[in-house]
Amino acid sequence: MSRWPDGYFSKSVVERISEIGHRAYVGGFTDELWYKIGKLQYHFLVGEGLCCEHVFYDVACGSLRLGQYLIPYLGTGRYFGIDLAPELVQAGLDNEFFGRVIAEKKPSFFFNSEFDFQDAPKFDFAMAQSLFTHLTPDDIAKCLTKMQDKAHKASAFYFTFFEGAQTAEQLSQTRSDPNKNWRYEFSQISEIANRTGWRVHLVGDWEHPANQKMVRAEPAR
Ligand SMILES: C[S@@+](CC[C@H](N)C(=O)[O-])C[C@H]1O[C@@H](n2cnc3c(N)ncnc32)[C@H](O)[C@@H]1O
Repeated sequence: MSRWPDGYFSKSVVERISEIGHRAYVGGFTDELWYKIGKLQYHFLVGEGLCCEHVFYDVACGSLRLGQYLIPYLGTGRYFGIDLAPELVQAGLDNEFFGRVIAEKKPSFFFNSEFDFQDAPKFDFAMAQSLFTHLTPDDIAKCLTKMQDKAHKASAFYFTFFEGAQTAEQLSQTRSDPNKNWRYEFSQISEIANRTGWRVHLVGDWEHPANQKMVRAEPAR
């Protein structure tokens, strides 16, 4: 049974946020899950060596489930988020931060579906949590290609995916869809990554509540 209300995906972003809230919009169906998945990403990245002086890209930053932790943690001007939906990011900015932290830390945001971070400096660390779970192979390749343009030799791009065999429905689906979950074998993820200029390592289990697997990608060239 779907957790989304009937007709939900035919509504505008603003209507969806007002119907279920900016946390549930990104799959944070309870407040506990919202905080847990954000904290999981935050602790994972710090455990991997993310430091305050690093430039960080939050790829598909949504309503700032990770940003609520990383924006205060990182140095001023070091956090860069991208998403399709400015209203979602604004809801996060309006509701998930206290005091002067946004004015002080000056995060930057980009809004497009091309994964185009425009004039942002090259990144040290990046994460795409629960993005490739909703993307076709072509859109995953597009994202990895754009991220490669913004990577330097020591950059690390972490992303999650649902592991498993593709269903017949998935194979017939030609467009990415937030209402659908794509599954991939790690070999398929590796093939896409290798042809877009990345070497990948399967981190695998990282205690994600829905068992999304984690991958670390490093530039191959
Ligand atoms: C399941 S949510 C995850 C959000 C966030 N990473 C998190 O963990 O809370 C997926 C997000 O991907 C964004 N998204 C989907 N396709 C995108 C694209 N082509 N470019 C940028 N963002 C995209 C959606 O707007 C949504 O915010």
